[in-house]
Amino acid sequence: MRRARRCIISEREGDPLVIRSLEFLGGMASPGGWRPAPGLPEVAFSGRSNVGKSSLINALVRRKALARVSATPGKTREINFFDVNGEFLLVDLPGYGYARVSKTQRATWRPLIEGYLRTSAQLRGVVQLIDSRHDPSADDLTMLEFLAELEVPTLLVLTKADKLRPRDLPERVRAIADAAGVDQSQLIPFSTVTGNGRNELAEALVELLAQPAWRSP
Ligand code: GTP
Ligand code: MG
Repeated sequence: MRRARRCIISEREGDPLVIRSLEFLGGMASPGGWRPAPGLPEVAFSGRSNVGKSSLINALVRRKALARVSATPGKTREINFFDVNGEFLLVDLPGYGYARVSKTQRATWRPLIEGYLRTSAQLRGVVQLIDSRHDPSADDLTMLEFLAELEVPTLLVLTKADKLRPRDLPERVRAIADAAGVDQSQLIPFSTVTGNGRNELAEALVELLAQPAWRSP
C-alpha cells in the first residue's frame, strides 16, 4: 500500500527535533518488496506487539495519528516509512511476539524485519522499546542479541512509564538494564500520556542521525 500525505507542524522553542514536514511514504509488505529508494538516513523502531511503537512515533513527531495505534496487538503489519523534514526516515517495524497472529504471518514477519535490518544501507540506528512494567521477554532478548550481532547503534526506551508508580520507576530501570545487559544511563523512560522522555529521545535521535552510517555500503 502506498499513500502520500503532507503536513506542517508549528515550531516549538527549544525542541531538539522541530518537525517542518511529515510524509507517509508507504509500507514494505514482504522481504525484497517495495521500499523507499535508499538515500536518507533511517532510524527503525522495534519491539514486541502492543509495546507502543506507533504511539511513540506519533509522540516524537507531535501528531495524533501519523502511525496507526491500536489496542489490538499486531496492528502494524508492514514496515512503514515516514519522511521527516525531507531529512531522514522513521521506520515503524511490525511488532513481534504476538501469539495470536497466524503462523504464516509470523513466518513472513521475521524475514521481513530481519531482512530490513540486515540490508538497509542507510540504517543509522534502532530504537528498541521495552514495556517499563515488565522484564524483557525472551523475544526482546533475542532481538537485543540480534541487534548486538549486527552492531547497529541501539537506543533503549521503556514505554508506558505513566503506568508505574513514580517511586517504582528507578527499580524497574535497574531491573531492565540488568536483564538487557546495558548501563542504566542507556535507558530512556517514556510516556505518551505525560510526554516524559520525548525530548530526551528526540535529542538522542538527532545525535544518532548525525553519525556516519556504521554499515559500509
Ligand atoms: P503493534 O503495531 O501491534 O506492533 O503495536 P505498537 O507497538 O505499535 O503499539 P501501539 O502504539 O499501537 O500501542 C498499543 C497500545 O498501548 C495502545 O492502546 C496505546 O494507546 C497504548 N500505549 C502506547 N504508549 C502508551 C503510553 O506511553 N502510556 C499508556 N498508558 N498507554 C500507551
Ligand atoms: Mg504499531
